[in-house]
Amino acid sequence: MSQINPVTDLTLDGDVAVITLNSPPVNALSAAVRKGLFEAFKQADADGAAKAIVLVCEGRTFIAGADITEFGSAMADPQLADVQEVIEGASKPVIAAIHGTALGGGLEVALCAHYRVAVPSARLGLPEVNLGLLPGAGGTQRLPRVVGVENALSMMTSGRHVPAKEAASLGLVDELVEEGKLREQAIAFARKVVAEGRPLAKIRDQNEKLDAAKGKPEIFETFRKANARKFRGFLAPEYNIRCVEAAVNQPFEEGLATERKLFNELMSGPQSAAQRYAFFAERQAQKIPDVADDTPVIPVNKVGIIGAGTMGGGIAMNFANVGIPVVLIEVKQEALDRGLATIRKNYERTASRGGITADQVEERCGLITGALEMEALADVDLVIEAVFERMDIKKDIFTRLDAICKPGAILATNTSGLDIDEIAAVTKRPESVIGLHFFSPANVMKLLEIVRADHTSKEVIATSMKLAKKIGKVAVLVGVCPGFVGNRILGQRQREAQKLVMEGAMPWDIDRVLYDFGFPMGPFAMSDLAGLDIGWVKERSKGESIRDVLCEMDRRGQKTGAGYYDYDEARNAKPSPVTEQVIKDFIVKTGANPREVTDEEILERCIYPMINEGAKILEEGKAIRPSDIDVVWQNGYGWPVYRGGPMWYGDHVGLPKVLAKMQEFQAKMGDQFKPSPLLEKLVAEGKSFKDL
Ligand code: 3HC
Repeated sequence: MSQINPVTDLTLDGDVAVITLNSPPVNALSAAVRKGLFEAFKQADADGAAKAIVLVCEGRTFIAGADITEFGSAMADPQLADVQEVIEGASKPVIAAIHGTALGGGLEVALCAHYRVAVPSARLGLPEVNLGLLPGAGGTQRLPRVVGVENALSMMTSGRHVPAKEAASLGLVDELVEEGKLREQAIAFARKVVAEGRPLAKIRDQNEKLDAAKGKPEIFETFRKANARKFRGFLAPEYNIRCVEAAVNQPFEEGLATERKLFNELMSGPQSAAQRYAFFAERQAQKIPDVADDTPVIPVNKVGIIGAGTMGGGIAMNFANVGIPVVLIEVKQEALDRGLATIRKNYERTASRGGITADQVEERCGLITGALEMEALADVDLVIEAVFERMDIKKDIFTRLDAICKPGAILATNTSGLDIDEIAAVTKRPESVIGLHFFSPANVMKLLEIVRADHTSKEVIATSMKLAKKIGKVAVLVGVCPGFVGNRILGQRQREAQKLVMEGAMPWDIDRVLYDFGFPMGPFAMSDLAGLDIGWVKERSKGESIRDVLCEMDRRGQKTGAGYYDYDEARNAKPSPVTEQVIKDFIVKTGANPREVTDEEILERCIYPMINEGAKILEEGKAIRPSDIDVVWQNGYGWPVYRGGPMWYGDHVGLPKVLAKMQEFQAKMGDQFKPSPLLEKLVAEGKSFKDL
């Protein structure tokens, strides 16, 4: 065996050279990895005793991509293209042996090998699009040559990790080998290739699948149209599509040049910078400064959920999806039955779309049982209370949980803003109490705000963070304050949106500005969707707000065919002359003075107070770092990921500008706009949030 460099070994197994890469955690293509691979392949190719070369990785995965931490600065030689050239140009067959994930540059390396074998649990993909990029090492030109244009478009614009079995059916993997026997079976495969005298299959020379798409530009137009909503605002999907067009219309080398040019454009642009930031922000959020990685975790083998409404049911599904049994508690049999039926309906809908099998529907439904008595929670490891937002009810429930649950069980509340310390205080075990704030629909939304109360133990925090990952959530640890991080910041935007209407902007003007900024919908379209009558009581309504008046007219949102907007049969929204008149009358009644409100003002009034509130949250220590706030807003509130998040956006607009606007608004409209001392301090010191 010879060690090429600290991360690469080259050994000879009979007549097969085996190159082993070991660069934890994910064998990313750092400078050392590129150098090791380059030299190892050159040596193996020159070694007359070797008839074939196998590339295999140690640790949890094959190469998971370029080293993203190197992006943004000049890359040391050898470049990835040099490595790929020695692989593809080798004089003997090269076999990539894949386990874990072959992603991005990792798959692009494997696509330069002449053959690929993989274990069934492996997954392959080009996820660059999620970093605002495109595969920049030939992937856009090689992948469509293997899997065809449509499959390549779908893989590249979704970034999906394709399971090995599916990859084999697409021709991306030549042979599936047994789990745990990758190395030996890859070597055996290499011998078979040699014995059968199979050719050095170079993907760059395979044009049949591209020829099939030549002269059919409609393939691309249809794809663009079908995905227009999903791609809205993002540059990278369109650039990926253009590269596949180049693969079809240009010779290989020219296609590579197009890929390089478009890759460089994306890499130097603001969207990719924001999306790469988002990647690391999400991982950073998992690190809690005073909770060590090796903090013991509490085994969670059974979960109890109180409340079988939309929220409780959605939460239950998360656990059943990963095989954890759930007991759902309701007061009345009817409500329990309704809750369980809704869960089944949701699973059946997923199955009808091919998301899960009919067996999985039964399996998951079988894991969720119902009970009418809280005593059924005596043996659960975690309880999540998901009932009305009323402190007295929650206190009563936690008092009872304290008496019923076994010692060490985690007692969580799904409150979206109540004081968890007050709830914890009714128990004799405040160290076991935590907030697990799911977002609706809880089986879909990725964000989980984990709320640390004064006495929450580190074990309970560590367990909650790990459990969140297990159920596929993006967790962010926040502190107790009204609305926590997400809703507290949302409150600023909602307040300004309402005020702007009283100043002369129409709801659809405000929605349009926020939609164009990149949110999936504006606050008024959102209200119509959720129902204007949430929290509205007919008997007590006295026309004191625009919402009251609309509800009194039975314009209660999409469900009644009208709210702020008018809706047609297909629920398409149209600005409503009725609402416009209601607003105008209301303004006259209250004696307000409407004026022209510009789009610029709408954006600044809605967004800058959010940034300012984020700064207050940081100075109060309710979020650990600015990027955590951004993770909350990206994953829970539809903040466009290509704009980073409110704190990232603040840095990029420039904090002096944000501060100046807040001061201007404060002078005109009062202390709701009072700048946070942290914002003032950062500006005075010429710093930004990223310096914290
Ligand atoms: N570069 C640098 N660091 C990386 C990395 C990469 N490509 N991928 C993962 N890491 C780091 C993470 O930041 C994390 O570091 P930390 O422990 O210090 O926080 C560590 O590796 C482990 O990552 P995860 O916590 O994400 O581990 P998981 O096991 O949950 O997931 C994974 C593993 C599926 C590989 C996931 O990390 C992932 O999706 N990585 C990114 C893959 C990717 O986007 N590849 C394409 C890169 S761009 C490219 O290749 C350009 C090319 O076309 C030229």
